[in-house]
Amino acid sequence: MNVEPHKERRIERRKLWGRAQGRPLSRHQAEMIDTLLPKIKAVPAPLSGFADKKRVTLEIGFGGGEHLLFRAGENPDEGFIGAEPFLNGVAKALVGIEARKLTNIRIHLGDVRAVLSELPDCCLDCIYILYPDPWPKPRHYKRRLIQDDFIEDLYRVLKTGGELRFASDIISYVDWALARFLRFSSNTGGAFVWQVDGVQDWLTSYEGWPSTRYEAKAFREGRTPHYFTFVKK
Ligand SMILES: C[S@@+](CC[C@H](N)C(=O)[O-])C[C@H]1O[C@@H](n2cnc3c(N)ncnc32)[C@H](O)[C@@H]1O
Repeated sequence: MNVEPHKERRIERRKLWGRAQGRPLSRHQAEMIDTLLPKIKAVPAPLSGFADKKRVTLEIGFGGGEHLLFRAGENPDEGFIGAEPFLNGVAKALVGIEARKLTNIRIHLGDVRAVLSELPDCCLDCIYILYPDPWPKPRHYKRRLIQDDFIEDLYRVLKTGGELRFASDIISYVDWALARFLRFSSNTGGAFVWQVDGVQDWLTSYEGWPSTRYEAKAFREGRTPHYFTFVKK
């Protein structure tokens, strides 16, 4: 069988998230899952309807969609793809998409790796990974989203000049992710460059940043968010 490497990865599954569903959905949320989601689903064609968009952004693990919907509302001439396996989060985002009449979002209810495997090389301008599940116990590190093969996939789908934005408040995950991003950068001869001049860069949130639910929780609980930007050269 001759399978492209990024398609092969979809076959080899690692379970990366905790809950797939929480409280029962409201009637309206359930209706949005049944009616709106099929119209804007990102798999199998994540870029459909985006031919005239000047930029395309992917948000991985958008939670309840606060950041994704904010960016999409601010930038109607850009396309946004969101992936999230938590049903209640997707339902909440769909309700917001309908209420705000946003037409520039595609949603995948499930693992982002299904979206990545459908994307061609060099098609995205920006990827957000905001507060990924930290999996703090060493025996669960293998569930962390940031792994060497995952970074390769992110790099593949970014355009030259495209940015990966990664934020986390969990220091052991910050160290883990940074070590892997920098190793990838070094192994590729500096093809993925950390945009940094000093400490303030990783302590300063992204421009026009509306924050996210998990970031608010981090501040409430006294943790410091760290923000990283890597650019594909
Ligand atoms: C800690 S929450 C952060 C949510 C949101 N980004 C925020 O900052 O409020 C991490 C999210 O990543 C999602 N997630 C975990 N594994 C994922 C995967 N393989 N693909 C897409 N999303 C994933 C989880 O379901 C969860 O909603």
